[in-house]
Amino acid sequence: MSKLLADKKALITGGSRGIGRDMVLAYAREGADVAFTYRSNAEKAAEVAKEAEALGAKAVAYQSDASNYEASEQLIKDVVAEFGAIDILVNNAGITKDNLMLRMNEEMWDSVINVNLKSVFNLTKHAMRTMLKQRSGSIINVGSVVGIFGNAGQANYAASKAGIIGFSKSIAKEVGSRGIRCNVLAPGFIATDMTDELGEEVIKAYEDAIPLKKLGEPKQVSDAAIFLGSDMSTYVTGQVISVCGGMSM
Ligand SMILES: NC(=O)c1ccc[n+]([C@@H]2O[C@H](COP(=O)([O-])OP(=O)(O)OC[C@H]3O[C@@H](n4cnc5c(N)ncnc54)[C@H](OP(=O)(O)O)[C@@H]3O)[C@@H](O)[C@H]2O)c1
Repeated sequence: MSKLLADKKALITGGSRGIGRDMVLAYAREGADVAFTYRSNAEKAAEVAKEAEALGAKAVAYQSDASNYEASEQLIKDVVAEFGAIDILVNNAGITKDNLMLRMNEEMWDSVINVNLKSVFNLTKHAMRTMLKQRSGSIINVGSVVGIFGNAGQANYAASKAGIIGFSKSIAKEVGSRGIRCNVLAPGFIATDMTDELGEEVIKAYEDAIPLKKLGEPKQVSDAAIFLGSDMSTYVTGQVISVCGGMSM
């Protein structure tokens, strides 16, 4: 059976841990060559690259801060020089700095907006020239259900993820005629380092409120990312696809 991402070249930001790590490996399994980034954890990134290569893919890890405009420009140049194309761009890198508004300081606001939202502009902007030349591309921006319905204590995070929705719908309209698609993949609560920080009691409360009654797994998000990156979704653009156990109904 042919692999769903055979011959595709993908760039995934934040691929050293959590959902991004799982996507790198899932993409490799489906036949894609994968460039991915990390911010600081070089050891974890090297392990992921090795695992992806063991699956038969070409995989290269790049240390690159997605919130930095110049670094993102250089990254795209390096990836195009090494891989020759970018068929799929997954803007996955993200952070949380949660607090109630009275305790949220300017740094918490700026860093979350820069890493989660400005990064999407940085990478999309610099990958666009390559995708326009190719007259094809799939951009997958990782949002969150919190960007749809908000969350107390996460005004910065929810704003960044809601911003991603407006950005992605605009890009879908701007470059649809050039064969480039842009969608949002909005996970609910997925078990990763990010959700580990929440503590057992909070996690139990979320599980009770989720129609499917459990946290999601990175694999379930990766499955949707395979769909959006593959030729199974060639008529899907400008959409927000939630992978959330029914949370965002
Ligand atoms: N987990 C959830 O429940 C959940 C729910 C909804 C949405 N999401 C979204 O899904 C995405 C992945 O989340 P996750 O839970 O997998 O997070 P995670 O386990 O904390 O991993 C975050 C990844 O992003 C990288 N990263 C962080 N800042 C970066 C930067 N400035 N430049 C480049 N890479 C950077 C990290 O690299 P280092 O290893 O070097 O730090 C790491 O690879 C995020 O956009 C998040 O908002 C997650």
